[in-house]
Amino acid sequence: MNIVVGVTGGIAAYKTVHLVRLLTKAGHDVTVVPTDDALRFVGLPTWEAISRHPVTTSVHDDVARVRHVALGQNADLVVVAPATANSIAKIAAGIADDLLGTTLLATEAPVLLAPAMHAEMWRNAATQANIATLVGRGLHLVGPAEGELAGGDSGPGRMAEPEQIFTAVLDVRAPRDLDGLNVVVSAGGTREPIDPVRFLGNRSSGRQGAAIAAEAAARGATVTLVAANVSDDVLAVARHPQLEVVHVGTAAQMADAMKYAAVAADVVVMAAAVADYRPTEASDQKLTKELGGLGRIELVETEDVVAALAEARAAGRAPTGQVIVAFAAETSEDPEERLDRARRKRERKGVELLAVNLADAGHGFEVAHNAVEIVGGEGAVVASAAGTKRQVARAILDAAVAVR
Ligand code: CTP
Repeated sequence: MNIVVGVTGGIAAYKTVHLVRLLTKAGHDVTVVPTDDALRFVGLPTWEAISRHPVTTSVHDDVARVRHVALGQNADLVVVAPATANSIAKIAAGIADDLLGTTLLATEAPVLLAPAMHAEMWRNAATQANIATLVGRGLHLVGPAEGELAGGDSGPGRMAEPEQIFTAVLDVRAPRDLDGLNVVVSAGGTREPIDPVRFLGNRSSGRQGAAIAAEAAARGATVTLVAANVSDDVLAVARHPQLEVVHVGTAAQMADAMKYAAVAADVVVMAAAVADYRPTEASDQKLTKELGGLGRIELVETEDVVAALAEARAAGRAPTGQVIVAFAAETSEDPEERLDRARRKRERKGVELLAVNLADAGHGFEVAHNAVEIVGGEGAVVASAAGTKRQVARAILDAAVAVR
């Protein structure tokens, strides 16, 4: 997307640097349009370096390319972060005395505002009337949050965190094709205790599952994200009023949480890496060398959660038309062999779709990018996607919607 990030003069401008970074890292083309006041907080070289585009505040630069309207016309989205009380008033009045003002007047793209100001200024009747006007015109808001403000006061007025604004950007552009549906997503990797300090685990960070949950919520679904050992950092992308996170640790806990949630789910996406085996017994004392150490660990198979969900559905314990998507991490380099294994796995699990991801160095675990092929009915590859985990999430949900 072509995204214009307007920055107005508030201390929260320093956080917008991180927002621009999140947007460019996700592959968007970002043009930053600061006001003169904004440059008192964060300087022009920072904006140019972080967005990799020239930055100006003036309508008199680049006149030949009619920059003062072209930016707005070419934008797919305009974000203003921070949006100060003064800039909100100017936008509401349609004042265009700088490049950001003309860009906002010239654009037909969605506009997202991230207000930031003191609590008194936010509560002020003038600001509230301006916000009501802008929301009435279809502009979108993210925040402000409650919290500590510059000067040590606290209250509503703190700019939403960059991750939250990033998610709101994606939400504004998402189709609403999951409105009214219940989506359950599992993410992360289970840990099977060996003793009080050790476990058998895997390298799944939960990023792909969190991205699927966030995308589903953006598309209107009510989402349950069953997260196995997923860090708060990763879960930050999935912060959404329609999204609930259920924390689990082991494969058995994952099985219980998923069975419970899937009873009402229209779409289930099983993105978690669930342990196939667990230690038969977890010692309640640390297995020290004196106690004989860890020489051998006896393992027992865990329940196949996604297969159990497909069985429950076959037994009528799920809404009609429920779609189940499973994942498979395949390490084979041979594409045909990979697909054959995926086809067999899809049949064995009894699911509609199986997303095969390549667990190699540049893709898959612990990294921001992923590449999947999605195997559907009759073993056909119904879609493939490569890019950010959010882009892959979009392709997976598109495929799930197409099956319904
Ligand atoms: N899965 C599950 N319960 C398990 C193991 C896996 O629900 N106990 C799910 C995973 O969440 C994933 C899918 O099954 O959606 C495929 O997992 P994978 O480990 O690739 O498949 P396995 O059945 O373990 O097959 P194999 O070990 O032969 O690759």
